[in-house]
Amino acid sequence: MKDIVALCKRRGFVFAASDIYGGLNGFWDFGPLGVELKNNLRDLWWKAMVITPPIGPDGNPVEIVGIDSAIIQNPKTWEASGHVGGFSDPMVDCRETKKRYRADHLVVLKNDTDKWPAFFEDVEDTDIEKRLKKLGLAQDLTGYERHNLTEPDILAALDKVIGPDVDKAGTLTEPQQFNLMFHTFVGATANEDNKAYLRPETAQGIFLNFKNVVDSTRVRVPFGIAQIGKAFRNEVTPRNFIFRSREFEQMEMEWFCRAEEAKMWQEFWFEERAHWWKSIGLSSANLQMRPHESDELAHYAKEGLGTSDIEYKFPFTDPDFGELEGIAHRCDFDLTQHQKFSGQKMDYLDPVAQERFTPHVIEPAAGLTRGVLALICEAYTVDESRPSGVYLNFHPSVAPKKAAILPLTAKEEHVPLAQKLYLELREEFPVDLDIKQNIGKRYARQDEIGTPYCFTIDNDTIADQTVTVRDRNTMAQERIHMDKVADYLREKMKR
Ligand code: GAP
Repeated sequence: MKDIVALCKRRGFVFAASDIYGGLNGFWDFGPLGVELKNNLRDLWWKAMVITPPIGPDGNPVEIVGIDSAIIQNPKTWEASGHVGGFSDPMVDCRETKKRYRADHLVVLKNDTDKWPAFFEDVEDTDIEKRLKKLGLAQDLTGYERHNLTEPDILAALDKVIGPDVDKAGTLTEPQQFNLMFHTFVGATANEDNKAYLRPETAQGIFLNFKNVVDSTRVRVPFGIAQIGKAFRNEVTPRNFIFRSREFEQMEMEWFCRAEEAKMWQEFWFEERAHWWKSIGLSSANLQMRPHESDELAHYAKEGLGTSDIEYKFPFTDPDFGELEGIAHRCDFDLTQHQKFSGQKMDYLDPVAQERFTPHVIEPAAGLTRGVLALICEAYTVDESRPSGVYLNFHPSVAPKKAAILPLTAKEEHVPLAQKLYLELREEFPVDLDIKQNIGKRYARQDEIGTPYCFTIDNDTIADQTVTVRDRNTMAQERIHMDKVADYLREKMKR
């Protein structure tokens, strides 16, 4: 992971936000290549959902429309959605270090004979062993088991708990609920009446606009509303690079359907979404599908069919997997709540059956920021045999640059031809024109940023208008006519 983070900085994918001031924990900036990669992923999702949505079980394309709602909404939104009351994590503070930890991330070590608990964040057994030795508490972990604790367990054990960064027991406070929403004040006065929240999920903007969309378009249940945008969560422990940050982007679609069809649609969207992640380059070996345990379910998914996650094997979770997207059955929870809190009707009139009902919702909710990380992790390939030592094996459809045009030398004859090809291609594809340095160094740079093809202009190009195509992965070279380069790239973009 350290090497991946270093490459991301070195080549301009991701920088720490406000780096010159020492950064700000949980915030990241996307550099010139990172923003291209992110936009490609965003556009591919939008196309798969809104422009060319999949073919449904009846053989016709399903219906999905897009919206872009405000980040700050009337604060009643978040009371109705359950986020004011329920979107929180249990926290314990250490009185010695003033550090704060998620109580549900701490583990207690237990064995049959010795019931003293020691709490640690998700650290390796070997590190725990070292710490235990230092504390004179145990020689090794043989016979101990890790247990996550419920809140009453934590309370009962508090005086015996050893915090993650101290050498004595009893420094942690009782767990307290910590709400994850960022708040701000709307208007000139900063008081409770003007308090508003930065959205912690894009989903609610969709529910708020359910009626507007039904009334202003021709959609009929079942149909979907999709949205991509920023979400904010004051995560207690942002970590693992851009995996869990405090400002991030989501790609969410709320699929409105009849309650009795919810199961069928949840299975449908699960298949579709898993297939899509594979189609943009994530390998099956690194993907896993996992239904949530009942105690993991979000407040809106407690009833009904639950949530199933599509998980990815990130280097920091390996051999385990981390969530990339959840496909939740939100029942009619959100529409019903908004109806209750706003006093506005949020049900749906079926124009054919002349019957009113509140649709159920299946929600494929993916992380755009987290998706970018999965793509980078998947693409990162060590190859000692090449000058760069590493290349990014992006699928051409997501690669930030689709091709580089390289005149073999900076000679008079090569450069104008390269410029001509570059000007033609850039109308359709993001391409680089790279003139300086020797050709080996230029290939190395393109390998490191994941450019799938390099087109080299040399003396033969002057004679017969052919160029050399170098394939990033195989490093194999072939010659094609300059006129065929755009067709060649177009073909390679297909998934
Ligand atoms: N509307 C449902 C919802 O927000 P979620 O599982 O909390 O569900 C959906 O979030 C996706 O958003 C996650 O699968 C993950 O990819 C991404 N995500 C959630 N919290 C994140 C964070 N702190 N940093 C980066 N991505 C996050």
